[in-house]
Amino acid sequence: MPANSYVENAWYVAGRSSEFPVNQPKGLKIAGRPVLVWRTADGKVASFDDRCVHKRMPLSEGVVLQDGVLECPYHGFCYDAKGQCVRIPSQLDQPIPTRAKLRPYPCVEQDGLVWVWPGDPAKIGDTTAPRTPEIAEWHTHMFDPLKVPANYILLIENLMDITHFYPLHDGNIGDIEQSKIPIEIVEERMNGVDTVKTVRKVSNYKQPPFYAEWFGHPVVDRWHTHHMVSPGLTRVELRVAAPGKLGNAADENGYVIHHSHTPIDAVSHTWRLWVSTKSEKLTATIAKTFPAVMEEDMWALERQQKYMEFPDDGYHEVFLRSDKALIRCRKILEDMEKGNRGQVVAPPVSQKAA
Ligand code: FES
Ligand SMILES: [Fe+2]
Repeated sequence: MPANSYVENAWYVAGRSSEFPVNQPKGLKIAGRPVLVWRTADGKVASFDDRCVHKRMPLSEGVVLQDGVLECPYHGFCYDAKGQCVRIPSQLDQPIPTRAKLRPYPCVEQDGLVWVWPGDPAKIGDTTAPRTPEIAEWHTHMFDPLKVPANYILLIENLMDITHFYPLHDGNIGDIEQSKIPIEIVEERMNGVDTVKTVRKVSNYKQPPFYAEWFGHPVVDRWHTHHMVSPGLTRVELRVAAPGKLGNAADENGYVIHHSHTPIDAVSHTWRLWVSTKSEKLTATIAKTFPAVMEEDMWALERQQKYMEFPDDGYHEVFLRSDKALIRCRKILEDMEKGNRGQVVAPPVSQKAA
């Protein structure tokens, strides 16, 4: 499984809304491309190729002038909110060349997040950026974005298989007991893409100490899901209640955690994590434990990526029951990668000599 690629034709989180104040364009690298995200004077977010059409200067280093145009810091090409070059200071007496226009990236803002489609706009079809209502409506804590030196699939796999809680997270969120909970896999198409969800449902479960402290009862009925909603987002939901009470909203407690994994390039990604609960205090308490957990995951992902550098000859991964979901995730991402723009798929090599 060479972790050296990513799906280009997908919606990815560029950041939360507050990271894009009006007229402070920001430069990002998403899926190997220089992406400019600019909230223009009308409050709408627009996204373009971050290279000035003149000599590739990053426009995110430029400033927005009084009249609302974005000025390139090198020779001063000025662009309007549609990415059209509208002024070239060194030749005001000439018409603007017709090709002096920035390539736009489809971009949406919803539930407090900004999403960008770095691939081919013609491939959007019926695909929509996933909704994340809990981020906007519940009490939510977001950690600073992390740059993870590993292909994004390694994070998706980490999230889809929580048998790593012991030993990787031993002593905080982990215990070996939860690795024994049977897993049901649900596959469905949502927002125009195939998704995979693991469901761990258990009755009379003795919670690890942290959870008992967060949610009350030492013994609970519990519903725990990990859902790869798209190449860019994995949603985790935990619901617990006193035995026999699961399903009564008033008796339930729990959280929703959204993880966004936006490829920067083949060997790194940006990881964002939002913890949402219905109580401000609970969100704050849970949030305190996460930096240590994320550091442990980063530690593992970085090492896995390093060891991808060695040739696979003679090496095989061994799959367990708990790997079923990630095998499905890999297949979905692989199939989506086939739609990557400009990718040349080699024809099958004929066994017979011509
Ligand atoms: S590079 Fe932008 S104006 Fe020359
Ligand atoms: Fe983890």
